[in-house]
Amino acid sequence: MRIDIITVLPEMLEGFFNCSIMQRAQTKGLAEIHLHNLRDYTHDKHRRVDDYPFGGFAGMVMKIEPIENCINALKAEREYDEVIFTTPDGEQFSQPMANTLSLARNLIILCGHFKGIDYRIREHFITKEISIGDYVLTGGELAAAVIADAVVRIIPGVISDEQSALSDSFQDNLLAAPVYTRPADYKGWKVPEILLSGHEAKIKEWELQQSLERTRRLRPDLLGE
Ligand code: ADE
Repeated sequence: MRIDIITVLPEMLEGFFNCSIMQRAQTKGLAEIHLHNLRDYTHDKHRRVDDYPFGGFAGMVMKIEPIENCINALKAEREYDEVIFTTPDGEQFSQPMANTLSLARNLIILCGHFKGIDYRIREHFITKEISIGDYVLTGGELAAAVIADAVVRIIPGVISDEQSALSDSFQDNLLAAPVYTRPADYKGWKVPEILLSGHEAKIKEWELQQSLERTRRLRPDLLGE
């Protein structure tokens, strides 16, 4: 899978994608993440990516031309499954959406900024608008990082133990069961006995019960209750 991220702040994302599992996914050839600085697609001497809004509103608006130049340059090289725009008024991001996007070959993510982008970009270039939650960030970069992370980590082979991605909270609409490591007794705080029993079937049953109990208590909405 290839993800092209268009941003005015590539430096904000460089460190993130050069770390840990995101870096490993790229080294293993399972994902390619390319950051594109929108200013590189301007043709004026000030490299302007924003301008004043028509109508006298406050704030700045991202201009069409650099975004069109960048998207067209990418589309000239390959076909894209989706051109995503990160915005608080988009569709709420979720695990099912991440699962679907992880099947794509090529994705563009355009990070929103300033007050917004010229609406014509949304009408003519964007195929999917995604919000990562009902709050407003200073820009779409963190949202792009969240989306790319959730999508890349479930590509087969990215996480060494594939099982662990499948047993995530939300993969089956249930919160995950608690996990423990050594020591089995820390200052009198004991790991549940069943986990030390070696009885695989009983452990699985315990895990499911814990998942159901935690989901019912913390996220009853996931069970439709
Ligand atoms: N840009 C600013 N806030 C955002 C949000 N909540 N989701 C996606 N993009 C954003």
